[in-house]
Amino acid sequence: MSLTPAAPKPDHIPDAVVYDFDIFHDPALKQDAYKRAMQIVKEAPPVFWTPRNGGHWLIAGHKAVFDASRDPALFTSEYIPFEKIQEMRAALPPGAPHLLQPTPITMDPPTHTTYRLPLQGVFSPKAMGNLKEHVRTLASKLLDDVKANGKCEFMNEIAEPLPVQVFLELFGLPVERQRQYRDLVKEHMSQENTDPKQMQQRLYKLTDVMHDTIVDRRDNPKNDMISMLWKSEFNGKPATLNDLEDYCVVLFTAGLDTVMNAMGLGVLHFATHLDLQNKLRADPSLISDATEEMLRRYTFTLPPRWSAKDQEFFGAPMKKGERAVLMLPTADLDPKEFESPENFELQRDKVHIAFGVGPHRCLGSHLARIELNILYEEMLKRLPEFRLDASKPVTYHGGHVWGPDQVHLVW
Ligand code: HEM
Repeated sequence: MSLTPAAPKPDHIPDAVVYDFDIFHDPALKQDAYKRAMQIVKEAPPVFWTPRNGGHWLIAGHKAVFDASRDPALFTSEYIPFEKIQEMRAALPPGAPHLLQPTPITMDPPTHTTYRLPLQGVFSPKAMGNLKEHVRTLASKLLDDVKANGKCEFMNEIAEPLPVQVFLELFGLPVERQRQYRDLVKEHMSQENTDPKQMQQRLYKLTDVMHDTIVDRRDNPKNDMISMLWKSEFNGKPATLNDLEDYCVVLFTAGLDTVMNAMGLGVLHFATHLDLQNKLRADPSLISDATEEMLRRYTFTLPPRWSAKDQEFFGAPMKKGERAVLMLPTADLDPKEFESPENFELQRDKVHIAFGVGPHRCLGSHLARIELNILYEEMLKRLPEFRLDASKPVTYHGGHVWGPDQVHLVW
């Protein structure tokens, strides 16, 4: 797909803070996402405006991302204010479709705090730790299935089925429908949402495929996340079908489109750094450090925000309501925070922000780390030295979640 058309630059934005970057369709990003990210780190201001995808801000420097993420008085996650959604819902005619609010990710504190709470227990380190053996069994089977072939397309054959199956079981959706769910999430993530009406239409597509299961778990609870959410109370009232749909759209996309990209990026690094494979095979206790450094070196999510007021932020003059994207990949490659950021170093004294920072920090981080560590452990144990098939170059997808489209391995 070609670049999105350039939007006219608003008068209050000086040329000095404009840098042309299409987070979805930039050709250099598709060729090598992290080379392009490094180029942005070197060339662009820490906060800049791009005319692409309707025109929006990008918050790229580490300190700027950190400050913007932590303070909803500077940048809000509410693309429509919570109170306004309540008003709009009250005004809907009887029988009109529910107005979806992705929960808790599009809320600011204090509302956000109330709605995040029911999820905290289910995603706790203890609850996720119980999944370790299951994840290991699945990973081992997927790897053993491809081992004799001497090659695999890693994204399709391992990076997708492993975390997707783990998530669907945990969440309570039928695993046999994983192809349908993944195709839908991929389509959902492939374009920008600038129009709230269109956004609703697209979210309905997600709730439609989950509707039968959500209703079934209300009537026949099981030991899964959807059943657990039905038992929650919101503002003293029992959960409703609308509450469940609001949570499910977020969990569905977060669960089905994150860890697979992390796995693809990490394995791509291993496949092009045989010295690292050998080092970790010799000392597997270093694998968890490698997982953290992979997450930093190839940070891959870009969450959206909106300027909460007219403000000058890191030299950029913004108007209230203007859209901004937190560019976590460049934040974690910022030389002001990480020395020689391009280098892969097992021990770093600074912590990455791949899982975000502030009130919305990722709830799935414990699960993601378990899956990544176990995959790398089993892969280095079960496969001989694996390399990238040089005849099949890697391409990347952009958007709010970056990752490789395909990673052809040979061994
Ligand atoms: C390596 C994998 C993952 C990465 C890098 C990642 C990254 C992130 C980031 C950066 C945020 C903050 C978004 C913001 O500030 O607006 C976030 C939030 C969130 N993530 Fe993840 N995520 C990963 C995996 C997962 C998984 C597997 C799940 C669930 C199954 C999950 C569930 C969530 C939820 C529910 C939120 C919203 C939290 C809130 O609004 O309070 N994530 N994630």
